[in-house]
Amino acid sequence: MRIPVGVKVGVFSLVVMGSYTYYANSIPQIESKPPQELSLEGGNVTPAQLVKAGEEIYKTKGTCEICHRIGQKGTRAPDLAGVGGRAAKAKAGMSAKQYIIESLINPNAFLVEGYPPIMPAVDKPPIALNRSELWALTAFLESLGGTVDVALNDIPATAGAAAAGGGAPAEVRMPGDAKAGKAVYTGKGGCLACHKAADIPGSPVGPDLTQIAKIQTPDYIMKKILDPKGMGTVSGFPPGVMPQTFGTTLTAKEYTDLVAFLLTLK
Ligand code: HEC
Ligand code: HEC
Repeated sequence: MRIPVGVKVGVFSLVVMGSYTYYANSIPQIESKPPQELSLEGGNVTPAQLVKAGEEIYKTKGTCEICHRIGQKGTRAPDLAGVGGRAAKAKAGMSAKQYIIESLINPNAFLVEGYPPIMPAVDKPPIALNRSELWALTAFLESLGGTVDVALNDIPATAGAAAAGGGAPAEVRMPGDAKAGKAVYTGKGGCLACHKAADIPGSPVGPDLTQIAKIQTPDYIMKKILDPKGMGTVSGFPPGVMPQTFGTTLTAKEYTDLVAFLLTLK
């Protein structure tokens, strides 16, 4: 049997090809010859396929699992089990899909009680999902306890613009020297007294920073060092423990070097 093929959403098809094996195993007709491309706009994609692609994005490019768990509290973020069901009641006047889409592209518009505003907009760097990926991801989240009814047109046309064209998002370059920044991290900054970071061991008083640049914007990282309290407390960690004094104790050069080093952690 032939599978309809379309080439409308190039970047997305790469993701779909990444989950190749899954399709080969789950759709009996295509066991021998998996599709190279899956059209998302021609009506050829079933909700189940969309959900599967969304799950793949959730686990890979989306890096959602660094903060979220399904069926278990993550250290940094709410458990997403059942989010498709509770999304319909989360915010008055918003349908489940509207709430989920807003959670992804404008996460600070509504905060889940008890959590700080640390979730980055996932259509902007560093995560930078495109519009089709947001569509699939929304379908996946709806499938967790709700009904999958999201259409591509529900995703605002402006969403994912930073990722448009399929190119990798521009690397954010800091003027600082990452190598010197590592010395600030382990030395004067004393960050390792509370944080582990990649191959640098540290205490677990604060979050492991090994992948901080993968999930957080440079803006958040820069502000967090200068004003930890102002940025909210990462869930699961004690408030008021990270020193508020780095803005005055570090020189401007030490600070930019430190930030440059943190941006290498991904
Ligand atoms: C840096 C950590 C972090 C990352 C990465 C992250 N989130 Fe979140 N997310 C949070 C936090 C904290 C909240 C709760 C505060 C809020 O509502 O913004 C949240 C809230 C949410 C909500 C609302 C949940 C509810 O119960 O109403 C959804 C949906 C969600 N995130 C999905 C995602 C998806 C999908 C990804 C990956 C593309 C992702 N998040 C990546 C931290 C993160
Ligand atoms: C005395 C312990 C302590 C020291 C020293 C410390 N921190 Fe923290 N840090 C914490 C704790 C606890 C948290 C989580 C609670 C919060 O958000 O305030 C945190 C959170 C962070 C976060 C946010 C992590 C995330 O997942 O969102 C960053 C970034 C960070 N620290 C960087 C640094 C850097 C860089 C230094 C060194 C200049 C440093 N910290 C020194 C205790 C510390």
